[in-house]
Amino acid sequence: MFNQEQQLIETKIKEFCAANDIPLAELKWQPIPFSGEWGFATSFFQTAANEARAGKGGKPVPQRAQEMAEQVKAQIGSVDGISRVDAVKGYLNLYFSTSAYARRVVDEVLASRLDFGRGAKKNETVMVEYAQPNTHHSFHIGHARNTILGETLARLVEFAGFETIRASYPGDLGLGVITVMWIYEKFYKGQEPEGVHERGQWLAKLYVEATALLEKQENETPEQTAQREAYDAERRELYRRWDAGDEAARNLWRETREWSLEELRDVLDMLDVKIDVWFYESDLDEPSKVIVDELIAKDIATDERPQGGAVIVKIDEKLGLTKEKYRTNILLRSDGTTLYLTKDLALAKVKFEKYHVDRSIYVVDVRQSMHLQQAFAILKLWGFPQAEKCYHLGYGFVSLPEGAMSARRGRVVLFKDVADEAVKRVLAVESEKSGDIPANERERIAYQIGMGALVYSMLSVDNNKDIVFDINEALSFDGRTGPYIQNAYVRANSILKKVQVPGSSFQVSGSFDYDLTRHEIELIEQISRFPQAVEQAANEYRPLVMAAYAYDLANTFHSFYHAVNVMQTEDEKIRNARLQLVMAAKQTIENALRLLDIQAPEVM
Ligand code: ARG
Repeated sequence: MFNQEQQLIETKIKEFCAANDIPLAELKWQPIPFSGEWGFATSFFQTAANEARAGKGGKPVPQRAQEMAEQVKAQIGSVDGISRVDAVKGYLNLYFSTSAYARRVVDEVLASRLDFGRGAKKNETVMVEYAQPNTHHSFHIGHARNTILGETLARLVEFAGFETIRASYPGDLGLGVITVMWIYEKFYKGQEPEGVHERGQWLAKLYVEATALLEKQENETPEQTAQREAYDAERRELYRRWDAGDEAARNLWRETREWSLEELRDVLDMLDVKIDVWFYESDLDEPSKVIVDELIAKDIATDERPQGGAVIVKIDEKLGLTKEKYRTNILLRSDGTTLYLTKDLALAKVKFEKYHVDRSIYVVDVRQSMHLQQAFAILKLWGFPQAEKCYHLGYGFVSLPEGAMSARRGRVVLFKDVADEAVKRVLAVESEKSGDIPANERERIAYQIGMGALVYSMLSVDNNKDIVFDINEALSFDGRTGPYIQNAYVRANSILKKVQVPGSSFQVSGSFDYDLTRHEIELIEQISRFPQAVEQAANEYRPLVMAAYAYDLANTFHSFYHAVNVMQTEDEKIRNARLQLVMAAKQTIENALRLLDIQAPEVM
C-alpha cells in the first residue's frame, strides 16, 4: 500500500550508503502497529555489524547503527505522505498521518475489489495435485480434508500470482479395485442403484461385503475354508484377465470405475472444485515401465531379475548417503509388474514435461510421506532439475471417535452424508427466524452456511495435526467457525443495504479526518494486513494462515459492529467515511472467504 513511499526511501538510503562507502545489508521493513499513528521501520544494526566486520566504523555497533539512522533521517528530508521520520536506537521509523493512511487502505480495497490482495504475476507455473481418492470406494470425510486443503492451497498460490494448474490422480487399479469387480460380477451383475451417490456408495458396500467373504475367519469350518479359497482363486483369475487386457474384464472395470468417477465429479462440484488435468494411475503403468528401462541403462536402477530378483534402486547408496534415509526400493517385481512408486516417477515426468510445471505440490496424507520422498529422490538421481521443486503438503489423519476409519470394514463417515446433515441442521434453525425468504433461496443459503461450517472446520486445524471427526463440532456455528466469519459479511452487507439503492452503484466520499475510535483503527489495520496474509499463506503453503486471518478479521469487524453505530452517526462526513470502511471490510471478508473455498451468503 505504501510501495511508492517505501521505494523512494530505499533509494535515498542506498544513495546515502553508496556515497559514504557503507556496505548496506538487505533492507527489511516491518509495520509499526498503531500507537497514535501507523508507521513502518527498518534497522541499521546489520549494516553497522557488516561494517565492523569489514574492519571499518571503529565504534560499537549499536552506536554506529544509531548514527547511520540519524544521518539517513537527515538525508531523507520530507516525503509526501510521510508525516514524521524518527531515528531511535538504530532504527529508522517512518510515520503516516492517520487520516491519510486510513484513506489509502480503504481506497485501495475499493479500487481493487475482488482483486484486493492479489499478488503480482509471477513467471512460474505451479501444479497442485489433490482430490485423488481411489476408485471403487466412496468419498469420505478424510478425502474431504484432502480436497479442501488442496483447493484452498490452489486458490492461494493462484491469487498470489502463480500460474496454477489443478490436478487429480485417482488410483484406479490394484487388488481393491479387482475385489469390487469380482463380487459385482459374481453376485450383482446387471444391477445398479439409481443416483450418482447411491451408485458410488454401493461400490463401497460391495467392497466391505467382498472383504468379509475373502478374509480368513476365526474357527472356519473346512467347508468355509474351501469356499473362501475358491472365491480367492476367482478373484486372482479376474486380476489375471484384467492384466492381460481381456475385453470383458476391461469393460467391467471401465463401467464400474466410471460410477466412482461420476460420484467424485459431483462431490467436486459441491465443493466448487474445478480440476484442470486428470491423471489416472492406470494410464501411467506402461510409461513407467519405459522409465525403469532408462533407469537401468543409466545404472541408477539395478536389474536383479536374471537372479530371480526384482528391479531395485539403492537410493541411499546412489546418492552417496552413509546413513539410511530412503532405503532400497523396488521398481519392478520379478514378474515385471510395476508398483505405486514406479508410476509416481511417470506421473512426475508428465507433470514436468507436458505441463511445463516449475513447482509441483502433492497434497497427500502424511502416511505417504516416505513414499513421496523416495519418489523425489529418484527423480533427482534421474536428473530432473525440478525434483528440488517437488513439495509434499502432508496432512494428518482424519479418524472417528471410535477409531480409525476403515473402508474394508465400512467404518467411514461419508462426505455426502455430512453435507446433507449440515443443510438440514441449518434449515432447522433458519426456518424459525427467516419466514420471509422463499424456500429454494433458503435452501441455497443453508447449503452455503452448512458447507461453510464443514470447510472451515477442516482448515482451522493445522494440516500437521490429526482430526478426530465429530459431526457436532464440525457443524457448530459458534465461536471459531465458518458461519461466524460469514456472519460478519452478512452484517456488513445489512448496513450497506440500508443506504444502497438496489442496482445502482453506491458512491460516498468521506474523509477520515476525525478522531478514529479504537475499533475503526483495529479494523483498518486488520484490512491492511490481508495482502501479507495471502503472501505468507501462499509462500509457506499453509492454508491455516488464511483461516486464522479470516477469523481475526471477522472478529475485529464484529467488535466494530457492536461498538460503532454507523447509521446513527450524526456527522454526515464521518458517517460516509464509516460506510466506506464497512464496504472495504465487506470486500476483504469476501476475498478471504473465497480463498478458503467458503461462500459469502447475502443474508443468514
Ligand atoms: N490415490 C492415492 C491414495 O488414495 C493418493 C495419490 C497421491 N498422489 C501421488 N502422486 N502418489 O492413497
